Amino acid sequence: MQALTRRGFMLTTSATVLAPAFAFGEQAGVYTKAGVAASPDFAADVEINLICQRDVVQILKGAPTKVWRYAGELIKGPANTLTPVSGAYFGPTMRFVKGQKIRIRLKNDLPEDTIAHWHGLHVPMAADGHPSAAIAPGASYVYEFEMRNRASMNFYHPHTHEATATQVYRGLAGLIMVEDEEERALGLPGGEFEIPLVIQDRNFDHDNHLLYGGGMHRNMFGFYGDTVLVNGRPNYRLEVASRAYRLRLLNASNARIYKLAWDDGSPLTVIGTDGGLLEKPETRRYVMLAPSERIDLWVDFSGRPVGAQMTMRSLGFSGLIPSMAMGMSGEDEGVEAFPIFSVTVTRAVSDSPKLPERLTPIRRYRREDLANPNAPRPIAINMSHMRMSLNGDEYGQGGLQFGERVPVDSVQLIEIFHDHGGMGNGMGNGMSHGMGMGGGMRGMGGGMMGPGMGMMGMMSMAHLIHLHGQQFQILERAFDGDADARATYADGFVDSGWKDTVLVAPGERVKIAKPFGDFKGRFMYHCHNLEHEDMGMMREFSVE
Ligand code: C2O
Ligand code: CU
Ligand code: CU
Repeated sequence: MQALTRRGFMLTTSATVLAPAFAFGEQAGVYTKAGVAASPDFAADVEINLICQRDVVQILKGAPTKVWRYAGELIKGPANTLTPVSGAYFGPTMRFVKGQKIRIRLKNDLPEDTIAHWHGLHVPMAADGHPSAAIAPGASYVYEFEMRNRASMNFYHPHTHEATATQVYRGLAGLIMVEDEEERALGLPGGEFEIPLVIQDRNFDHDNHLLYGGGMHRNMFGFYGDTVLVNGRPNYRLEVASRAYRLRLLNASNARIYKLAWDDGSPLTVIGTDGGLLEKPETRRYVMLAPSERIDLWVDFSGRPVGAQMTMRSLGFSGLIPSMAMGMSGEDEGVEAFPIFSVTVTRAVSDSPKLPERLTPIRRYRREDLANPNAPRPIAINMSHMRMSLNGDEYGQGGLQFGERVPVDSVQLIEIFHDHGGMGNGMGNGMSHGMGMGGGMRGMGGGMMGPGMGMMGMMSMAHLIHLHGQQFQILERAFDGDADARATYADGFVDSGWKDTVLVAPGERVKIAKPFGDFKGRFMYHCHNLEHEDMGMMREFSVE
């Protein structure tokens, strides 16, 4: 055990600390690239083979496109567990019921290492797709977990160290729909009237090959494509009947943030977010949807004549993405509007379900529920020219920090904020390292980040902080920054439900209440701008 590499050291440490929490087979907690086998004691209700493979699909007119994709095979369980997304590179949609015991055998038929993560699900570390659990080409990894989530739309995607962005970009992703009794009892639109819509942006070359250009610039700001795909198709059109629908949107783009609105000015009726239904429907003129966020919309086409059309557009906004990111120079010129998908009413029907007034009770966390009401654990976001980090460190660098050791079965107050200390004012990483739980960086954020602050102003951007494990509640957004820019996006935040990702705008400090229940182990937290994640804007909590 000498001369360990940093990576080797990390693995050994976790094995020692965590062995009792998840002993599977003989390999108590030590991940190897050879993968993990099924455990004979786990009585699975549902069993799936999920193969990561190369494929060729028709996306645009003309030549087909080479992609990587998940292919699924149902071994055991209800017939509706797996549904292919027709004509898409997207992996099959998995449909689970709360309480089911699930076994998924991931087989890597790609030319490089990979590991899948079930984004939004509350599962043990061994089933979470930890980057260090990545398996080699040809190997398999067996995930076993019980569905503890309430009804919600989640998704699966690779979580491979430094290769998440490219693997997702090539096509690896799929949906996970969780159902439960409580939601079923509401009688929301289901079957053909419940439509998942996955939004992604891509670039194609003249031969319809996926292009992932941009180099350092892309790594800094994230990838922005010029072609919007919905469920893997361009110019997506939906044909509907004149009744109520449930449209369930996921932003599975690497970096692009959308500001969604109907082109005819109809308001949006939001019934759910990342972690499932809201307490009651909420109306918005527009909704912001950052990478990995989900939004559940009730859309009623009743009374619209056959032939009526609506287009969901992404509207312009400013202040979240530096102008540099979009290939512009100087001040933030905002993000232009563009269409996402369109809907045509093609059938008249006479009855339609009614929008429930109340959806689900959500018990809001109160001060007395929090383990640390006066000393929030910090997530300090740092983005400088050559480096992306959280709490002063890149992923895999440095040991656990004090604030990253979390007692199991506690609810923690966490404060997420921008730390601009790395930008040459001498207060950067050293200070972050020494920072205790008190959030010693207070006051360093907003004041420095108005527009026109030169390099710093141009570099400050929204980050989309995602925490693995249980869904959290957003308690508070404090803002000190560009109020005019903020007016172009802030009404589109839906903060009242359960969340696993939160957009943290430049100048914002966001407080969340995050439960760390049931499972000990290492659980990631990171920016879901996948380029940022791969650049190191990711760390982990050790739940002990
Ligand atoms: Cu969607 Cu850690 O990821
Ligand atoms: Cu996740
Ligand atoms: Cu980021």
